[in-house]
Amino acid sequence: MLKKILLALVLIFGVGVTLQAKPNKHKKQSGFTMWQLPMQVGNIGNSYVFRTAGGKVIVFDGGWPAEQLYLRGFIAALGNEVEAWFISHPHDDHMGVLWQILKDRQGMKINHIYHSRYSNELLDLEKPYNEYAKDFYAVLDTVSIPVTDFREPGYIGSIDGFNFKVLGVVNEEFHTNPFNNSSMVMKVWDDKKSILFLADTGAESGNKLLNGPYRNELSCDYVQMAHHGQHGCTEDFYKSIDFRACLWPTAYWIWTNDQGGGYNTGTLETMETRRWMDEIGIKEHHVSCLEGLFQLD
Ligand SMILES: [Fe+2]
Repeated sequence: MLKKILLALVLIFGVGVTLQAKPNKHKKQSGFTMWQLPMQVGNIGNSYVFRTAGGKVIVFDGGWPAEQLYLRGFIAALGNEVEAWFISHPHDDHMGVLWQILKDRQGMKINHIYHSRYSNELLDLEKPYNEYAKDFYAVLDTVSIPVTDFREPGYIGSIDGFNFKVLGVVNEEFHTNPFNNSSMVMKVWDDKKSILFLADTGAESGNKLLNGPYRNELSCDYVQMAHHGQHGCTEDFYKSIDFRACLWPTAYWIWTNDQGGGYNTGTLETMETRRWMDEIGIKEHHVSCLEGLFQLD
């Protein structure tokens, strides 16, 4: 009876009626899960972990030395073997955990480390961070783990469905904000999503990216906000690329620009960055100090 009524409707109104949704043959597949890790010491650490569909673990940065217990536990829970560890730059809120783990592995297996090494001249532009960075490199030089040192951008790699492209490497020419302006910049993607990791990219290196050969590859679904969301890339940078959501590896005092005197009384530029995002129309924000652990499939 129902079929006759539907047939009559089709004949009378010339419209088709679908009784059951067909399975979507083109549903996008997640090649990896990403976690933005919450900070453990009330300060800015940059820490992202990925697990591929096949179970391989990948780390981008990792946070402060004081956050090592948390990250060690997180990695142990995923099997205690890291297929690839990317370090954006040798500030200790980025390389600090790997720096400590390399000194005392405690059973963790690390199969490959990727970074873009700074010269001694560049290192000595920032004190006391030059000493931490030199010690990190000294430790790196003693381990038997394969290390890839990207000297040029453009490298494309794939690890079990985790695709990555290096869009920016060390920039020895920038002597202002030198460590941050030499952050390694990476885009990672699978069939379902793409994420741009800016690390601590500053205004100068952000402009270099915008005017460089990979400009059109900066657009993505998720952007890791440069330099923890303040005093990083410029308004022009963010307004020149397309994206729909923000990842903020940001401590609460930075998010609120409160350096001890109360809400928005500090000298940080977070409120400007937040305003730019509002002007662009971004509605999806994942702020580590507000949300805690964020998982993206
Ligand atoms: Fe940082």
